Amino acid sequence: MSSTWFLTGGVGFIGHHLSRALLQRGDTVRVLDDFSNEPYPERLKRRHAEVLQKEHGDRFSVEEGCVTNRELAARLSAGVTGVLHLAGLAGVRPSFVDPARYQDVNVEGTAVQLQAAQNAGCSLFLFASSSSVYGNATPLPATEDAPAIVPESPYAASKRSAELVVSSMLRKTPEMRAPMLRFFTVYGPWQRPEMAITSFLRKILAGRPITMFGDGSMRRDFTHIEDIVRGLVAAIDQAPKGARPYNLGSGAPVTLAELVDAMSRAANRPVTIERAPVPLGDVDATFADITRAREELGWSPRVKLDDGLASVVDWLQREPS
Ligand SMILES: NC(=O)c1ccc[n+]([C@@H]2O[C@H](COP(=O)([O-])OP(=O)(O)OC[C@H]3O[C@@H](n4cnc5c(N)ncnc54)[C@H](O)[C@@H]3O)[C@@H](O)[C@H]2O)c1
Repeated sequence: MSSTWFLTGGVGFIGHHLSRALLQRGDTVRVLDDFSNEPYPERLKRRHAEVLQKEHGDRFSVEEGCVTNRELAARLSAGVTGVLHLAGLAGVRPSFVDPARYQDVNVEGTAVQLQAAQNAGCSLFLFASSSSVYGNATPLPATEDAPAIVPESPYAASKRSAELVVSSMLRKTPEMRAPMLRFFTVYGPWQRPEMAITSFLRKILAGRPITMFGDGSMRRDFTHIEDIVRGLVAAIDQAPKGARPYNLGSGAPVTLAELVDAMSRAANRPVTIERAPVPLGDVDATFADITRAREELGWSPRVKLDDGLASVVDWLQREPS
């Protein structure tokens, strides 16, 4: 039987890929998004909305507004199978510029959406969290049971706070399924343009230098969007009841120096590197233990870094601007 989902942030990078996956299996998707022009241009979100509308117009709708708007949350969560809360302010560095806004959108926005979902009697509330909750103090590979109480940025603090709000509010509705998916640096076609990989590969393909932070030893667990969407769908279909965090990561971190070599191979171009200090809030390493997602959601990542980078090069060559 097909389902109807209320998806916040459904025209963003991860959100529009998830919208398409749900629409392609016959589900109906209602999106709430504010089409903000930060941290990347609004026109990309408009483009995603238009394409999805063309592909699946009868089952896809978008409302423009903020996740903290209670009236919108109540109206859009009425009668749906579940709420998939992906909207949020993403990005570590800008969170130091406007920490209060990060708290408003990421924490208050999550509380508003969850309360509306509870009032509407939804059986599922999925929350998009982040590997950043682990900070630098968590032993690696990071497991979901780690306390995660030393965030390195206001962004990380907002995601961890939102998780705690979800966990505490689930006491009211213990039968509800509330998977909290901790994404590890997601990349792939239509990645946010300010993120590493897309911004690097654009420069490499144009023969321009890239800026590498630190000495290249920083490690990241890069995870391809196809794997993330499969993980989201697995959580939507199979997550057990209760508020439960899951790592969605490749489980195979690489150093920035290794990433640069792999990008050079994928683009078939040499890379010129300029160095800059590590920005405030960036963690030394991310590395997911993915045992729980494997055991409880039947999920494991499939896309190898070389293949994933090839998919980005292919996309950038088709969509040069
Ligand atoms: N991309 C990653 O590597 C990554 C890693 C960890 C966690 N996440 C989380 O996953 C989610 C999606 O990330 P993304 O990379 O697709 O980012 P994105 O910026 O492309 O998507 C977020 C969407 O939320 C919308 N939004 C922002 N503020 C809003 C508000 N106040 N009201 C309504 N809509 C609002 C944006 O317009 C955007 O379309 C975010 O919550 C992010 O924090 C992403």
